[in-house]
Amino acid sequence: MTRWYRERKEDYFYRKAKKEGYRARSSFKLKQIQQRFNIIHRNDTIVDLGAAPGGWSQVALELVGPNGLVIGVDLDMIQPISNVIFIQGDITNPETINRIKNAIGDKTADVVLSDMSPDISGIYSIDHARSVYLCEKALEVARELLRDGGNFVCKIFMGSEYENFIKEVKRWFNQVKPFTPPASRRSSSETYIIAKNFKR
Ligand SMILES: C[S@@+](CC[C@H](N)C(=O)[O-])C[C@H]1O[C@@H](n2cnc3c(N)ncnc32)[C@H](O)[C@@H]1O
Repeated sequence: MTRWYRERKEDYFYRKAKKEGYRARSSFKLKQIQQRFNIIHRNDTIVDLGAAPGGWSQVALELVGPNGLVIGVDLDMIQPISNVIFIQGDITNPETINRIKNAIGDKTADVVLSDMSPDISGIYSIDHARSVYLCEKALEVARELLRDGGNFVCKIFMGSEYENFIKEVKRWFNQVKPFTPPASRRSSSETYIIAKNFKR
């Protein structure tokens, strides 16, 4: 793909997000994941890790409908979205997990999403290692909160630990597949691990 075409495409998703009222172009990544894998259902309870500015939470809310529940978590503040519960906190801090549990109440989560990205250093191996660390934390959250049969989606930056992480996810889910949505920037090394059907 030429650079010209790439930039045009990226612009396309940016403009499309603005036009359709989404807070981030990344909304389309979740839409494309959903289209392909059907991970979110009506009335589901969704935990959205790394939710700022709220693009994935907006899409999740549309999919679960008025009787579902979406809980977004991020280090950063998120401007309110009606019917979405936002928790500002660090997912690596156990206190944040407790706050998520309080928000879910006596339910379990149907889906745990993680679009978390570390601060980018520009050094490939460091960014990869930080991303894997966030993925491991997201998997811990998923294992703690998901119901049996629940689903998990996790963004990972490709690198040497990728295969090991996939192996770990496969221990806990019956179907695990990597997927790079067309809306991902071509220049990015990110991919998404789509894990369905949680088993204890
Ligand atoms: C690419 S953005 C997410 C975009 C979001 N999915 C959307 O559609 O609007 C990645 C987010 O991960 C968050 N993040 C990174 N490390 C985190 C951590 N330890 N705990 C919570 N959030 C974290 C960042 O603050 C950032 O907002």
